[in-house]
Amino acid sequence: MKNFSYYTPTRVVFGKGAELQTGELIKAQGAKKALIHYGGGSVKRTGLLERICQSLDDAGVEYVLLGGVVPNPRMSKVYEGIELCRREGVDFLLPVGGGSVIDSAKAIGYGLCYDGDVWDFYAKKAVPKACAPIGAVLTLSAAGSEMSDSSVLTNEEGWLKRGCNSDLCRCRFAVMNPELTYTLPPYQTACGATDILMHTMERYFTREPDTSLTDALAEGLMRTVIESARTALRDPQNYDARAQIMWAGSLSHNGLTGCGTVGDWASHQLEHELGGMFDVAHGAGLAAIWGSWARYVYKEDPARFAQFAVNVLGCKNDFADPRRTALRGIEAMEDFYRSIGMPTNLRELGVEPTEEQFRELAYKCSFQNTRTIGSFKVLNIDDIEAIYRMAK
Ligand code: NZQ
Ligand code: ZN
Repeated sequence: MKNFSYYTPTRVVFGKGAELQTGELIKAQGAKKALIHYGGGSVKRTGLLERICQSLDDAGVEYVLLGGVVPNPRMSKVYEGIELCRREGVDFLLPVGGGSVIDSAKAIGYGLCYDGDVWDFYAKKAVPKACAPIGAVLTLSAAGSEMSDSSVLTNEEGWLKRGCNSDLCRCRFAVMNPELTYTLPPYQTACGATDILMHTMERYFTREPDTSLTDALAEGLMRTVIESARTALRDPQNYDARAQIMWAGSLSHNGLTGCGTVGDWASHQLEHELGGMFDVAHGAGLAAIWGSWARYVYKEDPARFAQFAVNVLGCKNDFADPRRTALRGIEAMEDFYRSIGMPTNLRELGVEPTEEQFRELAYKCSFQNTRTIGSFKVLNIDDIEAIYRMAK
């Protein structure tokens, strides 16, 4: 088990009606004026935005509104947000939405504390030193941004999707009412479940021995998400299923399921390039690439994949041959993805890269052939291209 530092400063306010506390939560932060940041309009259609505004009014917190964040959030909206916040004297950021809206707010938060171009942090040209305070109202269980140290932005210049990790952007509070996710289309529910599973799988597929408690937490979380996703797709207004998924989404990406392990994260790096170049939904992109990644790397430690197969997916353990059990597990995971309407290859994802685009994907994912990705098996530009091609 590796040494680790576990830091989760976010206050979680969870349950029915939780959003009504938003105004008071901001006031308790000593803030005077908030930016209410949101996406393409779901929060208007559901009436949530109105309730949030009312809650801020009741608490005497001033606010300005900025909507229009798109999935795979763009830098142009971030620049617009920074300008608006400076002009209006905003001192608190309140994203109301999913990962894209929260990530856009995090980038605005960095930008408000920086004189240069905020993309510098995503291009790894600078390290953030400060971030304006953020509190989130979550409407989609998926990215885990409400408790993570991460934000992922897409720069329209070059269509690069890049992440920035820093504890500075962690939300002061996260308001989580599972009922707010009842209106999600089935595809978003499935994408969300996939992303949540993948955040734990990226940490679980480790070469680090002696992580039995972290393994047990991870396996329990994954079993719960698989079962609850099936229920939520069958019965979208099932509170218990929505609640399990929502809480799992936060725990899957706040570091808990990675304590003592060394994360892999190759599938996420592979997906980010797909998202940047083809604008696919993040969860669907992960499902499309995972099986190919798994088949490419499992021989490094078949016993780990066999443990996943047995403890998470209930596969029969073939003690004589862990490789066979490992492959059964990969197939069972793909069966699950298909059963919830997720793609298991690029064609099903709706992406058919040309020869040139396969090379471009690998070139971009390896940062112009200057880095490797993954730790379960370290992957160079040729491995990366091979996995994209396997996923055809
Ligand atoms: O824009 P609106 O109209 O609100 O619609 C959204 C959007 O179209 C819709 N939606 C959200 N809540 C809804 C709803 N529709 C109906 N009812 C509701 N309650 O869902 C669509 C997708 O929203 P988005 O925020 O893009 O989804 P998600 O939460 O999956 O976020 C994906 C983004 O997060 C990044 C991904 O790369 C992607 O850009 N990630 C962020 C991470 C982080 N910050 O820690 C980690 C992840 O690995 C991931 O990379
Ligand atoms: Zn993710």
